[in-house]
Amino acid sequence: MLKETLTKAFSDQVNKEFYSSYLYLAMSAYAEQTGYKGIANWFFVQAQEEMAHAIHMYQYIMERGATPGFGVIQAPPTTFAGIHDVFAQVLTHEQYVTESINAIATQTMKENDHAGYNFIMWYVDEQVEEEAGINDILAKLSNFGDDPGFLYSLDNELAARVFVNPFP
Ligand code: FEO
Repeated sequence: MLKETLTKAFSDQVNKEFYSSYLYLAMSAYAEQTGYKGIANWFFVQAQEEMAHAIHMYQYIMERGATPGFGVIQAPPTTFAGIHDVFAQVLTHEQYVTESINAIATQTMKENDHAGYNFIMWYVDEQVEEEAGINDILAKLSNFGDDPGFLYSLDNELAARVFVNPFP
């Protein structure tokens, strides 16, 4: 059974994943309302992924015979200073999530919970991928973000993203 300390850590992370989903939904709404339907799609898919993370982690707590904790999910910001600002905020948020996931990995090691460590390592890898993808978009925005033609092509590119459940 999952220890109480780790149950709390995983439950807090479930909350953060739900918040991430909510944040990306707010960003999707902002993008759509400012005329970037493709970017809105990218954030909508991102919101679905975060929801899948939350549910996956919740199911893991249950599978380990523990009782998950539930808390308030904070309201996300709804106003942004443009598309570049949105993605800059995504990077800051994901860096925060990475720290949180790493802290859980450290805690599972300290508590000799090998199964928990194995579980959270999937998220450690996932965070590397997420940060790399966002850094890539941010680098393009820094170089070409002032060009309306670039924003048009970025919007088209991000329109192609499709949600694939990582835990089918
Ligand atoms: Fe579930 Fe973007 O971390």
